[in-house]
Amino acid sequence: AKEPVRVLVTGAAGQIGYALVPMIARGVMLGPDQPVILHMLDIPPAAEALNGVKMELVDAAFPLLKGVVATTDVVEACTGVNIAIMVGGFPRKEGMERKDVMSKNVSIYKSQASALEKHAAANCKVVVVANPANTNALILKEFAPSIPEKNVTCLTRLDHNRALGQISEKLNVQVCDVKNVIIWGNHSSTQYPDVNHATVKTPAGEKPVRELVADDEWLNGEFITTVQQRGAAIIKARKLSSALSAASAACDHIHDWVLGTPEGTWVSMGVYSDGSYNVPAGLIYSFPVTCRNGEWSIVQGLHIDEFSRKKLDLTAQELSEEKALAYSCLT
Ligand code: NAI
Repeated sequence: AKEPVRVLVTGAAGQIGYALVPMIARGVMLGPDQPVILHMLDIPPAAEALNGVKMELVDAAFPLLKGVVATTDVVEACTGVNIAIMVGGFPRKEGMERKDVMSKNVSIYKSQASALEKHAAANCKVVVVANPANTNALILKEFAPSIPEKNVTCLTRLDHNRALGQISEKLNVQVCDVKNVIIWGNHSSTQYPDVNHATVKTPAGEKPVRELVADDEWLNGEFITTVQQRGAAIIKARKLSSALSAASAACDHIHDWVLGTPEGTWVSMGVYSDGSYNVPAGLIYSFPVTCRNGEWSIVQGLHIDEFSRKKLDLTAQELSEEKALAYSCLT
């Protein structure tokens, strides 16, 4: 039998946490033969709710779930974890300045970075979900220098999956037959959902999405804004932000990172930029990646047209500004 993998979920008493922990315990994230031990962290005001989630996990009698740690102690939460899913953070509230929200999250991610660095298992893989996801991940990376930079990522898979969903609805095809969309940049409304290399599996072979949709106006306009604004549309409809789709995307992100992407398929991940596609190095930026043997690599050599170039640069610009704002909160 396999040794259990320890998975940390921060903000586990929140709504994404509530959707996410049962998925992990059912093997959605790491596969149906991989036992897990869940480490759940939240803050003291949520301790009672967190304990309620732990009670439900016990009640669900998940065969793969070999243990649950539910705690408000960051060190206890981080000790020995192999995978860390960082969902906890300080949300922006009505009337709050961007700098105030950033400052709260910078201090959270700085201290959680230190705890992970000191107490997590070697080679721990981290994905930051909490917003501002890219910049929180950057702060985490900077304050956990002994964690390899390749191990610190942020979630843009939800945006990626949203793009797949929009194409599948438009063409009335199965979502599993659509692949290789790309989310470039920030997990924010400046992200660029790019279909220039996306294809659909048809009875006549793989066809480019552009050819099948044959409506550049939609692809260059409404498609992009729908994906960019989808989070806001969910909030408007549900009066709560996306939770089940975010949890599912977090599972997809870790699943593909650990177990690999299928041959010929890439996914989007926020990763530490090495300057590929002339994106400034030193930002956590969403790129197309393939994964093998537990490591991602950025897909190289894709043609970037002028329309795309502007959009890649715009979202990089926003991330550089966020980085500067985050650093200004450190002093
Ligand atoms: P929520 O407010 O329901 O849950 C957040 C939880 O984090 C709360 O239980 C809170 O007590 C906890 N928390 C706050 N500070 C903490 C700390 N220092 N340590 C540990 N836990 C802490 O929010 P929800 O809906 O679960 O969303 C969580 C985050 O995910 C938000 O920042 C949201 O903006 C972001 N998000 C990101 C998406 C993505 O695609 N990257 C998609 C959807 C949401």
